[in-house]
Amino acid sequence: MNAPLSALESATPRTPALQSKLPRVGTTIFSVMSALAVQHDAVNLGQGFPDFSCDPKLVDAVAEAMRAGHNQYPPMPGAAPLRQAISDKIEALYGRRYDAATDITVTAGATQGILTAVLAVVREGDEVIVLEPCYDSYVPNIELAGATVVGVPLTPHTFRPDMARIAAAITPRTRAIVVNTPHNPSGTVWTAEEWRQLDELLAPTDIVLISDEVYEHMVYDGQHHQSAASLPRLAARAFIVSSFGKTYHVTGWKVGFVAAPPALTAEFRKVHQFNVFTVNTPMQHGLARYMADPAPYLELSAFYQRKRDLFRAGLAGTRFKLLPCEGTYFQSVDISAVSDLDESEFCQWLTVELGVAAIPTSAFYRDGFDQRVVRFCFAKQDQTLQTALERLQRL
Ligand SMILES: Cc1ncc(COP(=O)(O)O)c(C=O)c1O
Repeated sequence: MNAPLSALESATPRTPALQSKLPRVGTTIFSVMSALAVQHDAVNLGQGFPDFSCDPKLVDAVAEAMRAGHNQYPPMPGAAPLRQAISDKIEALYGRRYDAATDITVTAGATQGILTAVLAVVREGDEVIVLEPCYDSYVPNIELAGATVVGVPLTPHTFRPDMARIAAAITPRTRAIVVNTPHNPSGTVWTAEEWRQLDELLAPTDIVLISDEVYEHMVYDGQHHQSAASLPRLAARAFIVSSFGKTYHVTGWKVGFVAAPPALTAEFRKVHQFNVFTVNTPMQHGLARYMADPAPYLELSAFYQRKRDLFRAGLAGTRFKLLPCEGTYFQSVDISAVSDLDESEFCQWLTVELGVAAIPTSAFYRDGFDQRVVRFCFAKQDQTLQTALERLQRL
């Protein structure tokens, strides 16, 4: 006879002991700094998200999609109109036709796109090259796939890729390389020549390129984003990743996409369909309709360049040394002339004592390399930036 359930209630519960798959992962610096910013009523220029609203037309387009009944599962790779709109945009901007049926998958933000690409192609024992400093999801993604992370530093202070060092890091076990331009945290943008050099380097190999281009529409001073999609040999081996969150001021919607040749996309979708299966329907239909007008993404660089210039002009009177900001919504500054603290201590001090939160660049290195550079996010209302600048000018 089975024991009554009441007998089980008196048994001692035991949670199985786990060996962490990601022992080095803790709470991210972004959450830590945001919490500190709230605690001290600081202006949060730490985490990268806008403090202003998206275009009401985009919200209307999503609401209309809901009312029109787009509320059940969309196709696994994404709603067809959105995939078509993405395909058309890539072709118009970067000159390559990605087939909406076989080459484009809508993802739950770029973050899921990158993880899914890694899980689709990287195996235990492989090596994956990342260029540090790098966005914080890359390393745990590679570790979850059981592979070895091979970190290659971008040149300190200029954050330019060092092709000789990348070349030296390639071994027969290198399965993939992750590249990010426009670059978080440094704000650098790869030149056509840098892309050409990477193209030459990878051409004789079977290395897959994961190209994180989420800031593709934020490039300043008359320059343009160069996508890996533009180079035929790179495009043939690349997952191109982007995010609507960055482009349309809707980071909380978590919708992005991955474009890749059919053979790569086929493997990508095998993982995608058993990971998220698909992404919420009304957002996809709303985004598809909104994309019919290219103005919002074509005008984004001018929108953010004005904020960059406002922020840089305000910082010019301080002892911060401004690093170039060629793209993204991040401005990096050298703190050497302002403080003896290390980057992390300085950011905490700045939040607590001055009321402005920033992010240490060391947080984007596995070994916490400290070059006295911190990052501010200027995706903020002018008034927010002014308040931050008034405080920073006291330095
Ligand atoms: C370089 C980079 N890649 C990917 C992401 C994640 O994008 P999403 O919010 O679409 O997942 C971010 C967000 O900060 C980023 O900076």
